[in-house]
Amino acid sequence: MAYNRRKFISFLGKASAGTVIIPPFLAGCGNLATPTEKSLKSNGQALDRLRQLTIEGLSPSNKDDLLLAKGMDYHVIVRWSDKISENDEFGFNNDFTCFIPFDDDNPTDGLLWVNHEYVNPLFVSGFDRHKYENPNAHRTKEQVDQEMYHVGGSIVRIKQTNGRWEIVKNDPHNRRITAKTPIALNWDHPIKGATTVIGTHSNCSGGITPWKTFLSCEENYDSFFGETVYDQDGRPAHRDSSQGWEKFYDYPPEHYGWVVEVDPKDGSAQKHIALGRFAHECCTLYELKDKRVVAYTGDDKNNEHLYKFVSTKPGSLKEGTLYVADTVNGKWLSLDWESQPKLKERFKDQTEVLVRTREAAKILGATELNRPEDIEIDPITGNIFVSLTNNYEKRDFHGSILKIEETDGQYDALTFKASTYMAGGEKNGFSCPDNLAFDMAGNLWITSDMSGSKMNKEDGAYMPFKNNSLFVVPRHGKDEGKVIRLASAPNDAELTGPWFSPDGKTLFLSVQHPGEQTSDLKNPTSTWPFDADGIPKPAVVAITGDLIEKMNKLHLLEKA
Ligand code: FEO
Ligand code: CA
Ligand code: CA
Repeated sequence: MAYNRRKFISFLGKASAGTVIIPPFLAGCGNLATPTEKSLKSNGQALDRLRQLTIEGLSPSNKDDLLLAKGMDYHVIVRWSDKISENDEFGFNNDFTCFIPFDDDNPTDGLLWVNHEYVNPLFVSGFDRHKYENPNAHRTKEQVDQEMYHVGGSIVRIKQTNGRWEIVKNDPHNRRITAKTPIALNWDHPIKGATTVIGTHSNCSGGITPWKTFLSCEENYDSFFGETVYDQDGRPAHRDSSQGWEKFYDYPPEHYGWVVEVDPKDGSAQKHIALGRFAHECCTLYELKDKRVVAYTGDDKNNEHLYKFVSTKPGSLKEGTLYVADTVNGKWLSLDWESQPKLKERFKDQTEVLVRTREAAKILGATELNRPEDIEIDPITGNIFVSLTNNYEKRDFHGSILKIEETDGQYDALTFKASTYMAGGEKNGFSCPDNLAFDMAGNLWITSDMSGSKMNKEDGAYMPFKNNSLFVVPRHGKDEGKVIRLASAPNDAELTGPWFSPDGKTLFLSVQHPGEQTSDLKNPTSTWPFDADGIPKPAVVAITGDLIEKMNKLHLLEKA
């Protein structure tokens, strides 16, 4: 964990041989650090205060509130059902959150992209599944239509004025992408007869591209239109979804489970077939010196896999090869139909390999992992961190964070070293790691995703951790290497989508599914964010304050 400023600089040097895309501040890091360093150097007291910074972490809590450590405050930027324009409102269950400023010199005005992963019908359409033995038989088309509107994503222009971030209402950029928005497939062959498909849903985490567009990942897509399953002889059958949307809309499952790219300028979208089809948690890009891109993406399901795509053309998410990880032998296995005889035996062409990626990965002997979720590239060492949330079947209740070191630090390498960076559990104080983020100082931020049905149960493994939380692992100063809880979520909620503003002064964060275990609207299990109607609402918050700013300057200690 030792931080080495020289290494940091050398990584920034490496960044000229390629660029970590995720932290938007990286490119501007040098610009930002220089004046701050100067002012700090000229102010020994300020540096001393940084040196003395004691981060007072929170204890586990089951209080129905968004609790923050001392030195942090929050305000809600936008919540479910807020109007964002004349015609549109903010969707449900916000997850991945990212912010791109219009102008690199003004970090306080830009576009926020937010994923809307899924809906709780009780809140969104008034459909109460608890009343029926066979719920989906009773859901109406009007209810499904309302649910389809509230998933997908939102683009909203936000601006900071007098310390508060607010939506610029009716800005022409503000728009919704929903489960009914037509989306083109970025592929040369139709999928189930279509080159443009209807909608996106299950949008969990995501990423951004070097050309400043958003990536939104379709995760548990089978919940809405089901899945096509194959028997040993390759005969297909349809498996019904849990939400039953296929009752009214006969959309093929094969149109979902992709990485979706959205252009913030006009909201146009495309699905990238070359990155494979599975429960994509996220998509994390690295741009090589020659402008080819490497995309890391995980399949968040028990015993599924970690993938990377390496493009053969600059800026392409279509031309290239998809690989799957054999973490035991440290090899990236090519999912190229043409060069893999085993794939030729089972599938008729590359399109079929990509539509049925999971089967192809297993045929090649890819390593089964415990639900690979978010992936981030360490801006200092260049290593790749992957959250492995848990695997109840294998009695891995608390998960871990996997570290991938590409051979010679080359992101297009075909070999790597895998090791466990940190295990979840009582010793380290967190369980079920999900989203990850590195801040400007290289501190690692981790959110947890213990299931709402298992949290705070006296007889369960999760009792000691209480509500889901946000943690930081400082990289410098007195608390280097410790896991510190900095935020505790409202009841049943999960904190998702941590994303820093380019000036390192705001942490954008989603509060997803507060009150998810509610069965009676008159008596919800959470009332956060404490609106007059008492209904819990997913919302995106801005976390600001002295602690956020100091954390983002901690690397300056190494220079002093
Ligand atoms: Fe939607 Fe894997 O979390
Ligand atoms: Ca997630
Ligand atoms: Ca999760």
